[in-house]
Amino acid sequence: MTGGAGFLGSHLCDALLADGCSVVAVDNLLTGRLSNLAHLSNESRFEFRELDVCEPFDCGRLEWVFHLASPASPVDYSEHGIETLQVGSLGTFHALDLARKYGARFLQASTSECYGDPLEHPQKETYWGHVNPIGPRSVYDESKRFAEAATMAYLRYYKVDTHIVRIFNTYGPRMQINDGRVVPNFMKQALRGEDLTIYGDGSQTRSFCYVSDEIEGIVRLAKSDEHEPVNIGNPTEFTILECAQKVLDVTGSKSKLRYEPLPVDDPKQRRPDITKAKRLLGWEPKVDLENGLRMSLEYFRGAVGKAIVSR
Ligand SMILES: NC(=O)c1ccc[n+]([C@@H]2O[C@H](COP(=O)([O-])OP(=O)(O)OC[C@H]3O[C@@H](n4cnc5c(N)ncnc54)[C@H](O)[C@@H]3O)[C@@H](O)[C@H]2O)c1
Repeated sequence: MTGGAGFLGSHLCDALLADGCSVVAVDNLLTGRLSNLAHLSNESRFEFRELDVCEPFDCGRLEWVFHLASPASPVDYSEHGIETLQVGSLGTFHALDLARKYGARFLQASTSECYGDPLEHPQKETYWGHVNPIGPRSVYDESKRFAEAATMAYLRYYKVDTHIVRIFNTYGPRMQINDGRVVPNFMKQALRGEDLTIYGDGSQTRSFCYVSDEIEGIVRLAKSDEHEPVNIGNPTEFTILECAQKVLDVTGSKSKLRYEPLPVDDPKQRRPDITKAKRLLGWEPKVDLENGLRMSLEYFRGAVGKAIVSR
């Protein structure tokens, strides 16, 4: 599991261990945290290695490679633009080489960002996207598009058994509270009684997938025979204003809304078409936004408390 100390990587480690696998998580802790794996410290089938996947690495014989390493939030990839391009290119080659060497299955964690600011809505996997290759988001978008191309090339040229998941906006416990994504941002602001920041007029839409649903979809895809990208996300669309209101309801906060200009290239709409995942994997999300926020509340309360104490 590359990126195993991250938000999704750590949950995926849990899911695979629960499935009976032995797991080696590798991570350079650029944006991840060891505390995400602390609960596995006594698990004999789990091992953590601190390393940078942009250098060649080898964990010994393995049957699966899950490649999740990459800064993922706009705050993180803006701060680490070069590292983001490197992990999507060099890091992906190294992870693919490992799968090739051991005849392992490979899963690339891709993203809805491959669709850019989409002209087609909702987004089907067949849509090629509308991406600005030189804008501030391009370090992430193009890194992920390159990683998809590399993954398909290892399938075509080397017959590696590859899979590509296009992950849409996922939230839940273990997210960093300062990573600038909508849910942690609103939760943090609401729990501190600060104004909730709305970029633009708040009419732009997002779909939010609870982490347990996302992980279930990823595992099903990794076990499937599908080699081309599959969207895994929640297709229920909310405006940012609706999301803010749900956060206020769930937290019981009296925070107000504060409006700020929309960032450059911010997508106006994002919603996965999950017909393919339903058909091929029998997968669809089960947790709605309100329940997902309720299930995340305790984690965010703790994380906000810790952040205040450590200031
Ligand atoms: N969370 C989402 O909503 C979402 C949406 C789309 C795609 N994704 C993808 O899923 C993956 C995981 O995202 P996340 O939300 O868990 O982010 P995260 O930042 O919590 O996890 C990424 C992990 O990768 C590690 N990493 C980065 N560069 C590395 C390197 N060179 N070598 C080793 N480790 C490295 C980080 O330290 C971190 O632990 C990413 O590839 C991301 O692009 C996530």
